Amino acid sequence: MAFEKKILCIGAGYVGGPTMAVIAQKCPQYQVTVVDIDPVRIAEWNSDDLPIYEPGLSEIVKEVRGRNLFFKTDIGEGIRESDIIFVSVNTPTKDYGLGAGKAADLQYWEQTARQIFEFSESPKIIVEKSTLPVKTAQAMERILRSESNNTRFDVLSNPEFLSEGTAINDLQNPDRVLIGSMETESGLKARDTLVELYANWVPRERILTTNIWSSELSKLAANAFLAQRVSSINSISALCEKTDADITEVASAIGMDNRIGSKFLNASVGFGGSCFKKDIMNLVYLCRYYGLDEVADYWEHVVRINQYQQERFIFRILNAMFNTLSGKRICLLGFAFKANTGDTRESPAILIAKKLVEENAAVVISDPEALKNARADLKDVSGQIDYIKDPYEAVRGCHAIAVTTEWDLYRNLDFERIYQDMAKPAFVFDGRNILNHPKLFEIGFNVFPIGKPAMTHF
Ligand code: UDX
Repeated sequence: MAFEKKILCIGAGYVGGPTMAVIAQKCPQYQVTVVDIDPVRIAEWNSDDLPIYEPGLSEIVKEVRGRNLFFKTDIGEGIRESDIIFVSVNTPTKDYGLGAGKAADLQYWEQTARQIFEFSESPKIIVEKSTLPVKTAQAMERILRSESNNTRFDVLSNPEFLSEGTAINDLQNPDRVLIGSMETESGLKARDTLVELYANWVPRERILTTNIWSSELSKLAANAFLAQRVSSINSISALCEKTDADITEVASAIGMDNRIGSKFLNASVGFGGSCFKKDIMNLVYLCRYYGLDEVADYWEHVVRINQYQQERFIFRILNAMFNTLSGKRICLLGFAFKANTGDTRESPAILIAKKLVEENAAVVISDPEALKNARADLKDVSGQIDYIKDPYEAVRGCHAIAVTTEWDLYRNLDFERIYQDMAKPAFVFDGRNILNHPKLFEIGFNVFPIGKPAMTHF
């Protein structure tokens, strides 16, 4: 069967892989190819052991791989063959030079733009999927039009809003799909082509078209607003701990106001993930560039509160355990930045583990999916760290448990058994408020939730 269209995705990461798998599933009439410079990653995508864990992903990949979804390393051939090219390469925060710690590092992205230019022999629609600073599409167009090779390029912005852990559902039933284009005749035509693609499974009223700058900015703003919500509830949790108010009660009370809404109001040990901090720092950098220092300060504070929340958690552990952790064994239950993913990027658990080791604690890390990443994150830390997947084994002989990821598995553990196996007095620091605190207290634990009064036996 000849395919109606050939789609290429450059970058086989957390966004590119699952997005293309769902496009291939929903559009059997299209050929979808994913390329990456990393041959190991491509080999993993072609194996039974996919490089990322996402519920439902492996089933879809099994269904469509070799039918109309292909993972390859030849970027040039991929570019030559394709009609639509999604660019989904990583854009980490710069760690060098001007804008270090804030601006996006666009080196991979620019290399990709140059490759597209070099290998293209027919008109292409280029779709920005990576989260990029505002006006990047313009830079992309400039690179592609810098010399004439008689090829027409139209650049669209189509930010991805999927959350890790629910990526497949988010892709199959998105709240909205956002497509930004130049408002020229060919820009609008390219936009319509992408609208048609999504319309294969997304209702038209959920496909939103805007100008290209609105689309780019919306992605940064959406993540900034979400992160701000977490920092807002976390800031109130600090006050709850001082006043005996209960953050869960406060969250439901304010969440019942329709204007506020009840989602994303879980106080925690802090937000992590590859997007929130990076996108806010990007926004901050943009605001400073345009001389909007007050706006920049406002958003920067969302990140500062997040850092503060993690430090507060560590301080609480130290303080509760008689101001010394030296020689004590502390188990982190969870290392992923949130449940249902093996991803540990910007996970609060990284800072917590490091600080505990600095206090000379022996740290045990447990997580059902993230131990490989945890080892990599902590490879330069000298101190005692053990990695034990089974939570019962992990907590054995520990003085304290700190819950850092809200895995369901931890909610239903046999805490009577765990208590028997731990050193006394035994402590639980619930950085996600997922456990039954009164029950733990009854068993004998000293319990320290987030934003709630502690329950101690002394
Ligand atoms: C986020 C956005 O939700 C998504 O739209 C965007 O495309 C990428 O960034 P993700 O990073 O996968 O997705 O995770 P998300 O579910 O948003 O959680 C981010 C962090 O906030 C996690 O560490 C999570 O544990 C924390 N969080 C979230 C809270 O601490 N409390 C909450 O109430 C919600």
